[in-house]
Parts: sequence; structure tokens; C-alpha cells
Amino acid sequence: MSQHAFFDPELLREDFPILQQPVHGTKKLVYFDNGASTQRPHQVMDVMMDCYAKSYSNVHRGSHSLSLIASDLFEDAREAVRKFINAERSQEIVFTSGTTGSINLVAHSFGEAFLSPGDEILLTEMEHHSNIVPWQQLAKRLDLKLRFLPIDRQGRLELEALDSFLTERTKLFSFASVSNVLGTRNPVEELTRRAHEVGAKVMVDAAQSVPHEPTDVRHSDVDFLVFSGHKMMGPTGVGVLYGKEALLEEMPPFLGGGSMINTVSQECFTPGELPAKFEAGTPAIVQAIGMVPAIEYLQRVGLQQIFAHEQLLAAKLMDRLGSVDRLTILGPPAEERGGIVSFVIQGVNSMDFSTMVDLKGFAIRNGHHCAMPLHAKFGISESSRASFYLYNTLQEVERFADQVEETIAMLVG
Ligand SMILES: Cc1ncc(COP(=O)(O)O)c(C=O)c1O
Repeated sequence: MSQHAFFDPELLREDFPILQQPVHGTKKLVYFDNGASTQRPHQVMDVMMDCYAKSYSNVHRGSHSLSLIASDLFEDAREAVRKFINAERSQEIVFTSGTTGSINLVAHSFGEAFLSPGDEILLTEMEHHSNIVPWQQLAKRLDLKLRFLPIDRQGRLELEALDSFLTERTKLFSFASVSNVLGTRNPVEELTRRAHEVGAKVMVDAAQSVPHEPTDVRHSDVDFLVFSGHKMMGPTGVGVLYGKEALLEEMPPFLGGGSMINTVSQECFTPGELPAKFEAGTPAIVQAIGMVPAIEYLQRVGLQQIFAHEQLLAAKLMDRLGSVDRLTILGPPAEERGGIVSFVIQGVNSMDFSTMVDLKGFAIRNGHHCAMPLHAKFGISESSRASFYLYNTLQEVERFADQVEETIAMLVG
């Protein structure tokens, strides 16, 4: 891949073995389910295989040479993540099991350190269940109030309502940078500035933006940012919590066990230093190490280029589907979104639809996409979603649009 001097998805595809594999016998796979999870280039798999074959051991435990090698690789991965999102210090990068794991960590630990009955947490109406349920659980435990910043019919946040939702009672504003259903890109810096003006902390669910566009936590000044390895061509089972050092220092450990302590007696323990304090037990070692080739790959291709390419694909699909009878696209115009296009087809069940297109080789998502409240807001219970990545092509989008029309004609006549 390093020899590709320009952005060419057809060339990039050669790095992804799974994309060469036909489905349903002879059908060419068109993978449009990247919002759920992306595919991996061989560079990521090679590094992981190599690690298991030559450099594997538990980390931060032994003084034998393999343990030292594995520990160095693991910490190199932390440093690669730090640079990737422009965090100031590697202590601010905590490896977790994924976005969901990171949010639960913050909900427990930040909640315990900083929240008391009557405090408010602000979310938005477009959140993934991962950024709703942990707060509902916390609200129940601590008697907090959850509020939801509304969205309009176009799937944009109602920013004019922000003043009445963001008050001195708000202790945390947690929102997605990009909606996993609508594709809407939220103004992270503006929302962060406004939240800070009332003294609230900010957590950004960046599961759908870190893999697709440049991220700079120092520039945006967010307090927490969370994302998953598997949505950025990395391994499953690993994710990241970025948190400002001063905040993480004040927060108590979430899970208890090995690695997260300084001392333990029969009566009590003292927590370890950052980030070990939040990494109880054996971490996802090889998965974290596998993040490095994924990051390197993204950087070689260029996140600006990836973003522009995905926006082009989204615009093309929206253009093609915009005139299809019975079909309604959810969310804002293409220029306001990332590479995600969800739609509903009047009289057609999304599962029937996705099963039909799957038979032709198109992998898309159907259902509520872990965003039931968002679908309820639009008076629907499900939708179909095409979500793109760097290896998707305009030709695939054109073929998919043809297939959508054909399938609708088949299902409703
Ligand atoms: C916006 C958003 N938040 C959170 C998640 C949860 O990510 P994970 O399942 O990797 O924890 C997803 C996954 O689809 C998502 O799209």
C-alpha cells in the first residue's frame, strides 16, 4: 500500500483479503456495513500474527525478555494512539474493550467522583444506546436527571435550544461526533465551548468519526473522547478512552484487580498511576498492538482524503436514491454528513430488504442500529443503512442504487 502515491480505492482493496472473496457463490462482495465494523488490511493481520508468533507475553508483569518486548510494543501502541488524536500525554490514553467499555468506565468513575443527586447529564436525541444506557443506569444509582438535546426533522441538533438545556446544573454533556444512523456531523468544538461556559465537562462518542476524519483532542478541548479499534480497520476487543490527565487523576478506578494497584493489603489497596489505574487485569495486548498498523495505514492514505472520498460516495448515493419512489433518506444533506446513508422504504421491512440485497452481494445493516430513541423520534422503528469506508468505490454505489430500485420493484411491484 505504501507505494500508492494517490488515493485509489481500487488499489487499496488489494490489501483487504476479505474483499476478494465472493459471497453467495459468485457474487462480488460490496461491503457497506462499515458503521457496524470495518474490514482489516493484511498489514494489520500480519502484525498481529507476527506478535503472537514472536513477541507475545503478558505485559507489565515479568522481567523476562519476552515480557519486556511485549510491554514495549504495547506502550508503543499507546504512543501511536496518543499521536493519532494529538493528546498531550500517553497517560491520557486508556485502553478499554471498545467505545461501550470506555463510556461505562466514565459513567462509573466520573459519576462517582463528580456527580450528586439532582445533577444533570445532557445527551442528544441521536445517541447510540452505548451513550444512553450507561447514563440511565448511573442516573438511577445517583438520582440524576438526564436531558436530551432535540434534533430537527433533518436530523440536525437544535442548537438554538442549547441555552435552555445546558445550564449550571449540567455536569456532563456527552454526544456523538457523527451519528451512526443519520451521518450528521455535530459541531464538536462549538458544543464543547458552550458546555465549558456553564462548567460542564464534555465527552465525545467518536466511534463514527475517529476512523474517518482527523481528530485533535487538544484543538477541540474535549474532556473525554472514546472510540473502537474494530471500526478503524483495527482488531475487535480493543478501544480507547482519552481523558484529560487532571480529570483522570481525580477519578477513582472502575474495575479492580491486577495491574491497577500500587499496593494491596488484606484491608485495602492504593490505586496505581495513570493509565494503569484504569486497566485492571490482562489487557487486550495483541489487539492494542494491532491498532498501530491500522493507524499507520489510515495516516498513509490520509484522513482528509478518506473523509472527502466517503462524502463523495454519500452524495452520489443520496443523489441516486433521492428520486426513488417510496424511499425516504434520513438525515441532513450530504455536505453535512459523513459516509453514512440510512433510509426507509414505505411498505418494505428493512430485514426483508437487506436479505434480498445480500443475495446480490451487498452487505448493509438493517434494524434500529442501536438507536431506538432516534428512530422513535422519526416515528419509525427501523431503517436500512449503507455506511462507507476507504475501500468502497463509486461503481459500488452505482450498482447498489440500481439494486435498491430493482429490489423495491420486486418487493412492492
Ligand atoms: C456512535 C456509536 N457509539 C458507540 C458504538 C458502540 O461501539 P462498540 O460496539 O465498538 O463499543 C457504536 C457502534 O456502532 C457507534 O456507532
